[in-house]
Amino acid sequence: MINTKLPFIWYGGDYNPEQWDREVWKEDIRLFKLANINIATVNVFSWSLLQPAEDRYDFSQLDEIINMLWNNGIYICLATSTASQPHWMSVKYKEVLPTDINGLKRSHGGRVNFCPNSKVYREFSKKLVEKLAEKYANHEAVLIWHIANEYGTYCYCENCEKAFREWLKKKYGTLEELNKRWYTTFWGQTFYDWDEISAPTLRNVLFHHWWTGKLSNVAQGMVLDYYRFMSESILECYLNEYNIIKKYNPNIPVTTNLMAVFKPLNYFEWAKHMDVVSWDSYPYITDDYISIAFRHSLMRGLKKGEPFMLMEQTPSQTNWQPYCYIKRPKVMRLLSYQAIAQGADTVMFFQLRQSRGGPEKFHGAIISHAGHENTRVFQEVKELGEELKNLGDKILDSKVKSQSAVLFDWENWWALENSQGPSTDINYAKGVEDYYRALYENQLGVDVIGIEDNFEKYKLISAPLLYMTKEEVARKIEDYVKNGGILITTTLSGIVDENDLVILGGYPGFLRKILGIWVEEFDALPPDMKNEIIIKDEFRKEFSEESYECNLVFDVIHLEGNEVKAIGVYKKDYYKGYPCVTVNKFGNGYSYYIGTFPSQKFLKELIKYIMKAHGIEPLFKDVPYGIEITQRVKNKKTFTFILNHTEEIKKINIGKGKKDLLSGRILEGEIKLHPREVLILEE
Ligand code: GLA
Ligand code: ZN
Repeated sequence: MINTKLPFIWYGGDYNPEQWDREVWKEDIRLFKLANINIATVNVFSWSLLQPAEDRYDFSQLDEIINMLWNNGIYICLATSTASQPHWMSVKYKEVLPTDINGLKRSHGGRVNFCPNSKVYREFSKKLVEKLAEKYANHEAVLIWHIANEYGTYCYCENCEKAFREWLKKKYGTLEELNKRWYTTFWGQTFYDWDEISAPTLRNVLFHHWWTGKLSNVAQGMVLDYYRFMSESILECYLNEYNIIKKYNPNIPVTTNLMAVFKPLNYFEWAKHMDVVSWDSYPYITDDYISIAFRHSLMRGLKKGEPFMLMEQTPSQTNWQPYCYIKRPKVMRLLSYQAIAQGADTVMFFQLRQSRGGPEKFHGAIISHAGHENTRVFQEVKELGEELKNLGDKILDSKVKSQSAVLFDWENWWALENSQGPSTDINYAKGVEDYYRALYENQLGVDVIGIEDNFEKYKLISAPLLYMTKEEVARKIEDYVKNGGILITTTLSGIVDENDLVILGGYPGFLRKILGIWVEEFDALPPDMKNEIIIKDEFRKEFSEESYECNLVFDVIHLEGNEVKAIGVYKKDYYKGYPCVTVNKFGNGYSYYIGTFPSQKFLKELIKYIMKAHGIEPLFKDVPYGIEITQRVKNKKTFTFILNHTEEIKKINIGKGKKDLLSGRILEGEIKLHPREVLILEE
């Protein structure tokens, strides 16, 4: 349990009473109770109130807020406030402010607007957190700490440059080694002194790719190392605070709110230092339930399937999306249960009371500008609160069951998308999501795992676009397949090492033997210049069509060895008839290769075929699109979540009788699911 003090699904969210006067606070408490709220996240943006001047601290208002909540039985998620430093600090100590990628020194404003390598920032945040921890680390109301808020701003200032050089010295030891790894002989970029190394910004890159925004510095390894360095520098800010809190109370859980598919920070590395993963979910109107599921699975995967926190979601609208749609009736409830179904043990919102001013004044909140409980949103929140309260601790700590996984790797993401060529349309996260989707739609439970995770527990692993395949990862993959695993990988895999240097001797490098193929060259064409995958006769009966569209990248593949077969070949161009989808038997396992970007329909059917060929059973059969079924398991009990994401009545067969925890009904056989209905079946 995240914290045994509150053995319920935590329900509440960001609360900013400092924006209101005391009369409103009283009303807030009445409404929180009405809505069944049991936790409030406070102190997220209060640094300037806590420390009005360099030598003056004032915790009186925070004391009042915490006491008021606790006197009313509401627990606290306590933030440290360090996402937004006070004006006086930025004005007096200019080094606190970051320099952006254009080389522009920022002025004060907004949030997460500090240089992660600023000693002044680190010192001041340390002092603040020391005082906060001294006061509240052992406060009975505090369930968890929330460090800063949505970290992620990169800095390119002189301080960072200096720190980067030190980081590089540690990593490479000598300049000779660095020159070799960065391949600086290209375009005459040899370094003779550490001080010659600068941060890769738009001012110093020799060849900034003007239409893709890629930092195609001669040393692509340098750009890659800057990503690593920044992710680590920002992590140090987090740890700077984490360690203080732990000093005062080693048992209190500590987190910071992540953002799922967020490129700047290597969250797998971050999660090693987080007691529980928490994240903020703000889907766009165009994101379907599988895209949202992908993000939850990624967040769940950061800590190997441990329950995570839904730290923020909006009860209805955001204010910052291009089109701030309203969550339709029942959608907030549906998405809350989806988070739980995916492994969340909390349902929390931004925010509890809607702000009167500021950029987010139109952001949805539980208590709206109307100020009372007679709103659709409030009533829905209240009803959900009631239901969650009734679930008690039943589901808490149960683990999501998955037979398959997709591999996600931040360093690969950085390298692949910064690579100059072969195509500007390669989107790593989207590529992984496409494979996640294909597995998901075939009713395989899908985890998202990192390169350090255990592969052996999955029947099937998909590692799309694994452009950077480090040798040890290749070896892990090899063992996995040898021991009977099923691997699915794609074009642009196995191409470079950890420094973005090509693995010589034929693509896909270390994966060549496992896949039984040699990719001689890869063609890349604009998205609308498509080709087709023609299914070979031997496999024709497994697919609904004779051919399927594909685009973007087209590998020219040669088969190697006796165990490899082509499933599909190209329809046209000079590589007409060449294999584009292959399968190889390797050891006791099989490896599949898709040498292009196929239609989603093809991927779905391919996965279906693979499952059939290797006897992998889906969790559920005959599930229509829009119905999401997942399972969480604890102490031999299985909780099956069935969610109807559509606006229609759907039918589904659930087999033998089971109890629905939400309605108390016993259900059996074919049942009707109402629009946006949720069931939690207990077995
Ligand atoms: C983020 C932040 C919050 C708030 C919300 C608005 O998730 O953490 O402070 O700005 O976005 O959607
Ligand atoms: Zn900096």
